Amino acid sequence: MTAIYESTHGNLTISTDPSRLDLDAMYEMLTRAYWAKGRTKEVIARYVQFSLVFGVYEGTRQIGLARVVTDYTTFAWLCDVFVHEDYRGKGIGKWLMESILSHPDLQGLRRFLLATSDAHGLYSQYGFQALKEPEKWMEKFNG
Ligand SMILES: CC(C)(COP(=O)(O)OP(=O)(O)OC[C@H]1O[C@@H](n2cnc3c(N)ncnc32)[C@H](O)[C@@H]1OP(=O)(O)O)[C@@H](O)C(=O)NCCC(=O)NCCS
Repeated sequence: MTAIYESTHGNLTISTDPSRLDLDAMYEMLTRAYWAKGRTKEVIARYVQFSLVFGVYEGTRQIGLARVVTDYTTFAWLCDVFVHEDYRGKGIGKWLMESILSHPDLQGLRRFLLATSDAHGLYSQYGFQALKEPEKWMEKFNG
């Protein structure tokens, strides 16, 4: 496995170094994410341990994240894609996507999945498209 993956643009860095993650900052951002309402800091702390998290930093301040849940072989699930409001519209979301998709340990996967309410136009720029055969898919949704 690649130890730590990093990409830098000026004073901004994207890093997968778990020791840089700021749980308070992630919690604070995710309280404003429509899919994570009511998610506790304890829940975030737990799943961060079992996910590949891409943190976005200005200096040491965490200003974004994206999380990949994966077996590093056939399958990955992309979620918790969030850029702090003050930093949106400057290409950070697209840089995050480019960084995730060029991560050495996420190459050659059979399937990369995600769900979105309104950001289809972001992900479609990176090859994501609506399920081809949605009738084949099932979920057990517990809210
Ligand atoms: C979505 C988000 C991560 C984008 O980050 P960003 O740094 O503002 O995005 P960028 O500046 O890199 O540009 C995003 C690109 O996707 C497009 N896009 C499509 N749907 C979008 C949406 N719902 N929100 C933002 N951008 C969207 C933009 O038009 C832009 O494309 P363009 O440059 O070709 O015009 C950010 O707006 C965010 O955190 N939103 C709230 C959380 C969220 O909705 N996350 C996605 C959940 S699936």
